[in-house]
Amino acid sequence: MELPQGLLDRLLAESLRARDFAHVPYSKYRVGVAILDEQGRIHIGANMENASYPQGWCAEPSALTAMIMAGGKQAKVALVTGPGPEIITPCGGCRQKLREFSVPEELIVIAGDPGGIRQRWTLAELLPHSFGPSHLNF
Ligand code: THU
Repeated sequence: MELPQGLLDRLLAESLRARDFAHVPYSKYRVGVAILDEQGRIHIGANMENASYPQGWCAEPSALTAMIMAGGKQAKVALVTGPGPEIITPCGGCRQKLREFSVPEELIVIAGDPGGIRQRWTLAELLPHSFGPSHLNF
């Protein structure tokens, strides 16, 4: 899918803005996510760590929750930003969470950092042969 430069710029700016809200006293690794929903709206989220380390959560579920609570149904683009320099990529659990609210072949996942956009994939490329809601229609 061809994404207009203006939209990419907005998603990057919002994802980086979300990073400012990250609660990362333990890893210091700030992650922001901006999700474009099927209505063309942008929802943001950041990672929220916890003194009981395993209880923390990633930026992707924060942004997905914001989308769902605003009435969004389907994620179309997810722009994830980390600090760099290594290109960030959603963790395995987050790939599955994104899969729940998308069509994997259609969802565009974009990686970026304060220096700009670095790479893009479809969710199907990141999570091939995924298990999804249709498996439960047995
Ligand atoms: N993190 C995310 O927020 N999203 C990812 O997809 C990768 C990892 C967070 C979790 C933790 O707060 C920090 O990055 C370091 O693992």
